[in-house]
Amino acid sequence: MVAMTDRVDFDVDQGIAVITVNNPPVNALSHAVREGIYNGVKKALDDDSVIGVVIFCEGRTFIAGADISEFGSAPKEPHLPAVLSLLDESTKPIVAAVHGTALGGGLETTLCCNYRVAVSGAKFGLPEVHLGLLPGAGGTQRLPRIVGVEKALSMVTSGAPIGAAEALETGLINMIVGEDLRSDAVAFALSKAALDTPHPRVRDNQKKLQSAAANPEIFATVRKMIARKTRGFLAPEYNIRCVEAAVSQPFDEGIKTEGKLFRELMAGPQSKAQQYFFFAERQASKVDGIDKNTAEIPINTVGVIGGGLMGGGIAMNMANVGIPVTIVETSQAALDRGLGTIRKNYENTASKGRLSAEDVETRCGLITGALDLGALADCDLIIEAVFENMAVKKDIFTRLDGIAKSDAILASNTSALDLNEIASVTGRPESVIGLHFFSPANVMKLLEIVRGEKTADPVIKSCMAFAKRIKKVAALVGVCPGFVGNRILFMRQHQANLVALEGASVEQVDKVLFDFGFPMGAFQMADLAGLDLGWDKAASASATVRDRLCEAGRYGQKTSAGFYDYDERRRPDPSALVADLIKDHAATSGIDQRDISDEEILDRCVLPMINEGAKILEEGIAMRASDIDVVYVYGYGWPVYRGGPMHYANSVGLDKVLAKLRHYQALTGDDFWEPSPLLVSLADKGQRF
Ligand code: 3HC
Repeated sequence: MVAMTDRVDFDVDQGIAVITVNNPPVNALSHAVREGIYNGVKKALDDDSVIGVVIFCEGRTFIAGADISEFGSAPKEPHLPAVLSLLDESTKPIVAAVHGTALGGGLETTLCCNYRVAVSGAKFGLPEVHLGLLPGAGGTQRLPRIVGVEKALSMVTSGAPIGAAEALETGLINMIVGEDLRSDAVAFALSKAALDTPHPRVRDNQKKLQSAAANPEIFATVRKMIARKTRGFLAPEYNIRCVEAAVSQPFDEGIKTEGKLFRELMAGPQSKAQQYFFFAERQASKVDGIDKNTAEIPINTVGVIGGGLMGGGIAMNMANVGIPVTIVETSQAALDRGLGTIRKNYENTASKGRLSAEDVETRCGLITGALDLGALADCDLIIEAVFENMAVKKDIFTRLDGIAKSDAILASNTSALDLNEIASVTGRPESVIGLHFFSPANVMKLLEIVRGEKTADPVIKSCMAFAKRIKKVAALVGVCPGFVGNRILFMRQHQANLVALEGASVEQVDKVLFDFGFPMGAFQMADLAGLDLGWDKAASASATVRDRLCEAGRYGQKTSAGFYDYDERRRPDPSALVADLIKDHAATSGIDQRDISDEEILDRCVLPMINEGAKILEEGIAMRASDIDVVYVYGYGWPVYRGGPMHYANSVGLDKVLAKLRHYQALTGDDFWEPSPLLVSLADKGQRF
């Protein structure tokens, strides 16, 4: 074995040069890997005793792509295209031996080999679109030539990988081999080296482009299909243009088009935001200050208190990954309703072909119902998911304290209440934690994990790991009203309400936020959540627009009326009644109405979110600015191509953010706009969050 670099080894087995990449954790194409492969292939080509080459990876995966952490710095030679050209032009057959995931530049590497073999669990994908990019090393030109244009379009625009079986079926790989991948790949290379015929090169394969050349509408169809999901994103369209170029231009021209569009995306703000977010998401799972030897509490059984929309959704998360879960309700009727809704949800998924009938039964079989908290005595984790009322929650935790086994984790799904107060009624506040799921809990990826004053490290560590197991992205936050997500949202809603009183229409406010990239505006979101959430009917005295809407029975989507009117398919329609009500409320509150520009609406809704984020950081409620961004992208639909509120503030410039906050403070004389000291200090020093 000879080291080509400290990340790549070279040895010869029966005349086949085996180039082995070993760059943990995911064998990314860092400089030492590119250089090692380049030197290895050169050595193999120069050695007359070598008759073929295998590219193989140690560790958990084949090359998972370019090294994203190198993107910000000046690229060092050899660049990936030069390495891949050497492979592509090799006179000796080259075989890629794939296990794990061949992604991005990793898949592009295999496409410059003459042959690809893989173990049955291998996956193949071009996920660059998730980084706001396109495959920049020939992927958009070669993939359609091997799997066909339609499949290639689906892979580059979704970023989703395909499995080995599909890869074989589509022609992406030549063979699925056994678990002794290295030996099988060498044997495969020997068999190909023995042939007299030339070895195939993907670039020469025009056949799979022909049907799209004859049927160019395919591109318009795909654009239409993905339009709603990819609104605001540049990369999906750029990926489509590259595949179009693969069909309409000669290979070398197509490569130039790909390079040009790749560089454009790489230089733009969207890709920067999405690359930032890639690392932000991974960082969020790490908790500073917890000893890495801290033991985890095994979580094999879960109890959920409350079988409503939230509790049911939470329970589905467990059943989806095979964890048995018991739901406790207060009446048989409520329990039947809850379990029935879960079954209906699963059956709906099955009817769309995304779940088998057998899976529906397995998952439903993992969920049992009970009417007595005593049924949770043996659960490792118990999640309370009843409505937001402190007295009710305290009563439940008092009773749980007497029922749950001594090492059980006791969690509350509260979205805004004081977790420390809830924990205080138990004799074991160290076992109490907040697990704030977002509605619909079986769909939304975010889990805000709330660390109470006394929550013990093993409890935090176990919940962070558990989140990953149930496929959530977790962010650890501290206790304050609304935690990170809702606390910031309160600020946006406060300003949205004010601008509406000052003369902007509900629809104008929502359109501005929608155009910024949110899936819906502040008022549509309030209607979705329910205007009666936290509203006290007995105490309501028409003091706010929300009070008046609720007093009129307009609770939001659930009553088909809130800030908007809703039809039977829950489509919003502007309400003249609400417009009049707001106008009237403004008059009785002494507020003069005026025309308000879209720019002012955006500033007034978004700047307070940034300012509140800064306060949250200052108070240590969030560990990092990037955690706030993770909460916002996964919990509140902040467009990932703008990175999250804190990244957005950085990209705008903290000095500009500060100047605008001061502008609104001077204009309104309202302390609401007082900039956070952290923001002031960072802006003054020219620093970023
Ligand atoms: N570059 C640099 N670091 C990477 C990386 C990459 N391409 N992919 C993963 N990592 C790092 C992660 O940041 C993480 O680091 P950490 O432990 O310090 O937090 C570590 O590897 C493990 O990653 P995950 O936690 O994501 O591990 P999983 O096992 O859950 O997933 C994976 C593995 C499926 C490979 C996933 O990491 C992934 O999807 N990676 C990104 C793949 C990708 O986007 N490739 C395309 C890159 S762009 C490109 O190739 C451009 C080309 O066309 C020119």
